[in-house]
Amino acid sequence: MSLFELPDFDAHEAVVHVSDAKTGLKAIIAIHNTRRGPAMGGSRMWAYADSTAAATDALRLSRGMTYKNAMAGLPIGGGKAVIIGDARTAKSPELFRALGRAIDGLGGRYITAEDVGTSPEDMQFVRETTRYVAGLAGELGGRGDPSPATALGVFVGIGAAVRHRLGADSVKGLRVAVQGLGHVGFDLARQLHEAGAQLIVADIDRGNCQRAAEAFGAIIVSPDEIVDVDAEVFAPCALGASLNPQTLPRLKCQVVAGAANNQLATDDIGDRLREAGILYAPDYVINAGGIIKVCAEYFGEPADSVEGRVRAIADTLSDVFRKADEAGVATSRAADELARSKFA
Ligand code: NAI
Repeated sequence: MSLFELPDFDAHEAVVHVSDAKTGLKAIIAIHNTRRGPAMGGSRMWAYADSTAAATDALRLSRGMTYKNAMAGLPIGGGKAVIIGDARTAKSPELFRALGRAIDGLGGRYITAEDVGTSPEDMQFVRETTRYVAGLAGELGGRGDPSPATALGVFVGIGAAVRHRLGADSVKGLRVAVQGLGHVGFDLARQLHEAGAQLIVADIDRGNCQRAAEAFGAIIVSPDEIVDVDAEVFAPCALGASLNPQTLPRLKCQVVAGAANNQLATDDIGDRLREAGILYAPDYVINAGGIIKVCAEYFGEPADSVEGRVRAIADTLSDVFRKADEAGVATSRAADELARSKFA
């Protein structure tokens, strides 16, 4: 099947296949839309089953970045690179330098950063062969881990959601179930605890749960039980697709608002959440804090301008909730519509 026929092609501006025999690099760089500016999105490294699976992932992820970047009001479009390979065994400095050369050849139409399977240290090698990279470690002139900015955006986003759905001024006294206590989830848990929320947490890494229990008085449940928890808010901060036909009937929350990418297994799950009276904060709107920070780093904007823009995610979400109510549609559909009006 040609790339143009793939279901996820969706009018991508360019898809570039890159290979480098010497380092074993095989990568696909997808540029979805550059109306707002150069395409920005991370480089993911994953042991894809085959090149079609890799292309499909690149297409989906780059399109997602267009929507996310547009909704965050950033002067960038959407793109993504996927490197086909096992991040535990196939990495080398030379591989990332080769990726950098390929990105450099695109002349700035695509700007990369770290993603799943890659790190700020890997981006340092990319930086040796191209300047079109952001998300570098602090000691290398970057601004370090974007996760705290993502966590702040999710925290203020939860605030906007409970205001809209429950008429609550803050999360004080509310129960929040946090699924996944990694870079984002743990920092989110800290902010929720400091604001007076009661936490119920789950992570496949038991150590993360213990730390949250000790630091924030969180109640620990098993990863399987977290969707059943009786809490006002469910915050998915682990992997994607946690909202699916199996978990949906089990949810007891009134709000779903978390950091994970691609929370809806399929688009219609957004409609079903609405029917169930659950307010869903669209993932790519609420989790844009990290890209806001990385984008500011790339364009050399003052670091102290970032916080205000991350906090503005609350206003963007409130706008999405209002528009969805007015149109009588799912918040996920209202967000898509609003995003398209900003880049189409
Ligand atoms: P991470 O890898 O640091 O944390 C994920 C955590 O989820 C880990 O502690 C892992 O043990 C846990 N986990 C995995 N499967 C689980 C399960 N079935 N049940 C419960 N816990 C489980 O990742 P990070 O950076 O915290 O990101 C979390 C999510 O947010 C991901 O979906 C990521 O794509 C998304 N995201 C992250 C951003 C960032 O700035 N780090 C930006 C935007 C989105």
